[in-house]
Amino acid sequence: MASTRRQFLNRVLAAGVAAISAYIIYPVLRFLTPPQFALGEQETVVAATTDELKPNSAKFFKFQDKPAVLVRLPDGSYKALSAKCTHLGCTVSFESRKDDFLCECHGSEFDLNGKVLRGPAARPLPVYLVSIRGDKIYVSAGKQAA
Ligand code: FES
Repeated sequence: MASTRRQFLNRVLAAGVAAISAYIIYPVLRFLTPPQFALGEQETVVAATTDELKPNSAKFFKFQDKPAVLVRLPDGSYKALSAKCTHLGCTVSFESRKDDFLCECHGSEFDLNGKVLRGPAARPLPVYLVSIRGDKIYVSAGKQAA
């Protein structure tokens, strides 16, 4: 009888030690194992098809859960930028007459390379990579080659 009680207590103690060990070791292993990719950094989206945009026009789309804009330049090439104003986060609009982006919240203006033309925004709009495969225009994170 005493042996049975001792065995029972040993099993309860062993189960408790195993549970506490798992509780401590699992987060440590999760911390030490790097994620397969950083969320959003490798995302590529189809922003448009090649027949969608006329020269000197723009299309807004979602990229990494934020507004982005694809612009077809007069020479037929494309630019993709974040459309989220770097001042307080309003969505900019494309001004085809002036070839720039205007934030109507507080009046910031950006050129087609994302450079600030007029504040209060102090940082440029992030520029994304554009690649064309077949009839699809892909946009991915990273800087556009100059
Ligand atoms: Fe764009 Fe303030 S949010 S200028």
